[in-house]
Amino acid sequence: MDQLSSVPQAANLAAPARDLRRIGVHPDHWYPLAWSRELKPGRSLAVRFAGEPIVLVRPANGEVYALEDRCAHRQVPLSRGVVQDATIRCCYHGWRYDRSGCCVEVPYLGKDKLPNGVRAYPCREAGGLILVFPGDPARAALVPLPALGSVGDSHYRTRRFGEVVACHYSFMHENLMDMNHQFLHRRQMGQIRPRFLGQRRGETWLEAKYSFARVSGRRPLGEAAIFGGRIDAARADRVAERDIMTIRTEYPYQTLRIQTRDTRPVMDLWIVYVPLDRAQRSHRVFGLLSVRRPKIPILLDLAWPFLVLFSERIFREDRDIVELEQAAHDAQGADRNQEVFPVIRDLRALLAACGAPE
Ligand code: FES
Ligand SMILES: [Fe+2]
Repeated sequence: MDQLSSVPQAANLAAPARDLRRIGVHPDHWYPLAWSRELKPGRSLAVRFAGEPIVLVRPANGEVYALEDRCAHRQVPLSRGVVQDATIRCCYHGWRYDRSGCCVEVPYLGKDKLPNGVRAYPCREAGGLILVFPGDPARAALVPLPALGSVGDSHYRTRRFGEVVACHYSFMHENLMDMNHQFLHRRQMGQIRPRFLGQRRGETWLEAKYSFARVSGRRPLGEAAIFGGRIDAARADRVAERDIMTIRTEYPYQTLRIQTRDTRPVMDLWIVYVPLDRAQRSHRVFGLLSVRRPKIPILLDLAWPFLVLFSERIFREDRDIVELEQAAHDAQGADRNQEVFPVIRDLRALLAACGAPE
């Protein structure tokens, strides 16, 4: 089921009956829990998914695996232990576990008396991310890994970014999809008037399209880095109308693509918000921002520091505001938002419908 509407209508999806800010992400998806570069061979790394402690292990030879970060013996974190060959040995009494979570050695017990081990999570590595399937392991084989935008495409340069944000993941989805908040970024971008072109949606996804016109203010260098020197200021408005931005929530991931005349996006962002604590009031962002190389590829490398600075400033403004939204929700104890933009109302309903069951 997929529909296209250029004029915003009242939301067809029912408003969430439960408070969206209390709905957990659905665990039956692949979530990145670390960047590949954070985990060196022969080491382990403690991470979390919605309050669950998980240890990622990278043997000196072999693929990364993920286990519950609690020794079956006295529940201390396995991540404090030592990686030996393809196993991890607990730091306390030296119990040893393999990649399936089986206890394969208790140094002071016979092989025939080994106790039960710990939970193992399906784990994969792609695009510089270590992804774990925290839900029903039987479903992992049925759920494909997410497509990571233009990562790995040599025509693009990718920036990997992310940090911890103290809010429920749903605020982030709403923030990115709602281009009516450009006023927040007026110091970084000048005044931009977004034009909503329409939305499409399916059962597990929703996307909105916009074009942009510059109302006043100069074009920041970071933005110019994305579009190249193609547009001179005098023509900026007219040309900007041809630049289409598509923002899509494909549960639980989000993408933002900017398309100009070509079929390939000039900018291709893939992002996900992975809850850290059990109440899911904080999350870690994993973002892959891919920018297409211009005809003279070195130009992008020269512009890169400006692009990084620009995107960091924008992200900081967004982070501050969503954390204030979370603080208001905490203080008021309920969701009192009065959302008037149909796309965001639909998005909220989608996030609620796709979220973890009660
Ligand atoms: S607590 Fe891990 S071996 Fe004893
Ligand atoms: Fe923003």
